[in-house]
Amino acid sequence: MKQAGRVLRRPVPSSAFPWFPSAFGIKQRQIDALHAQLVATDPLIEKIKQKRPVRVSVTGGAGAIGYSLLFRIANGELLGPEVPIELTVIELPMALKAAEGVAMELEDCAFPLLDKLTITDNEEQGFDGCEIALLVGSKPRGPGMERADLIRENGKIFQKTGQTLNKFAEKYCRTTVVGNPCNTNALIACNNAPDIPARNFTAMTRLDHDRAVGFLAKKTMLPPNEINHLAIWGNHSATMFPDLTNTSCHGTPWHELIGEFYADRYWRNEFAPKIQQRGARIIQARGKSSAASAANACLNHTRDWCMGTETPDWCSMGVVSDGEHNVPAGLVFSYPVYCQDGAYKVVTTDDQPASSFWWWSEYSNYCIEQNVQELLAERDNVSDMLPN
Ligand code: NAD
Ligand code: LMR
Repeated sequence: MKQAGRVLRRPVPSSAFPWFPSAFGIKQRQIDALHAQLVATDPLIEKIKQKRPVRVSVTGGAGAIGYSLLFRIANGELLGPEVPIELTVIELPMALKAAEGVAMELEDCAFPLLDKLTITDNEEQGFDGCEIALLVGSKPRGPGMERADLIRENGKIFQKTGQTLNKFAEKYCRTTVVGNPCNTNALIACNNAPDIPARNFTAMTRLDHDRAVGFLAKKTMLPPNEINHLAIWGNHSATMFPDLTNTSCHGTPWHELIGEFYADRYWRNEFAPKIQQRGARIIQARGKSSAASAANACLNHTRDWCMGTETPDWCSMGVVSDGEHNVPAGLVFSYPVYCQDGAYKVVTTDDQPASSFWWWSEYSNYCIEQNVQELLAERDNVSDMLPN
């Protein structure tokens, strides 16, 4: 069972300081010192800890996701009930009137944490001094489309936004890309913001993660917080790999609950396709893409990144690959990650608790490779938007 607010694993890997002996906790003390240094130099985390107002900018605030997201941010569901928020909503000129209506509603809620509210169609003003950027504003797909069909049209939005963030946002700004295709849009934004560390750009695959947890919880008739160590690898597309290899349900390996003989068939033929196609099924049913669940995932993703993952668990996030698990460096790839104090760390076999996990099979290697190939093709498709 998860416990909120306690994080055991550190963003500084245990492989750091290979020359230090582990005996008497010597190596761990070095890791702790480096970690403390990282946290002390992170102004966003300092502000959160001191409960000072944090500047959050949201694009597409008058859209369907925005309408769920903004109220929950103002209600303290992003950074907790004690951190005031200075919220800026950035919209297209034609949607500004609708955004002003949303602003009136926000005011009418009298949220105690909402210190300041700005509505603008000027990105430069909207991202000035921004500390957390939630990039939602973009076109959603319709029935029969794949998310990658939006890549050229939406890519341009993220190119411009990357450039503006680079000039106007704080250098420590954390950016969560929601707009689809989110992995490659995050790559574009990151590439156009060379002065902001690449680690500060992430893509949201948390909705797939939460969907997968929800499905398995229903299947095993357990509460979702009893489902741990589930991972989404790769692209937020129909190719994504929902990985149950290390998943436990109430501390028991998932396949023992599902039934050893049926488990593999269930995973490959029922579970994985359900997650991969869930977004399309929602569009078929609603006529519009997921919105409230996407807003919820955006909050979960960004909150865990800033405040830490619950233990004993990890979460799934699209991050700029550093070559982990043989994924080409530079692709925005979804991995299982541990988060603590505003930093994330891709789970690798170096992590002591994770080294006891079982990692690769022919099936998982194949699925991950499919995602790598798809993301390389998406990157080629937008190479003209990647100046750096
Ligand atoms: P929507 O059409 O309801 O709203 C989009 C809003 O963005 C509109 O109000 C529009 O005016 C605004 N917008 C467009 N371009 C903008 C720009 N350059 N600057 C500022 N605002 C801009 O769409 P939605 O349902 O809110 O979805 C938004 C995006 O999120 C889509 O790309 C959708 O595919 C994506 N999405 C991603 C996930 C995920 O899991 N990653 C989940 C759901 C939706
Ligand atoms: C989702 O997964 O629901 C979103 O990415 C919207 C979509 O286009 O499927």
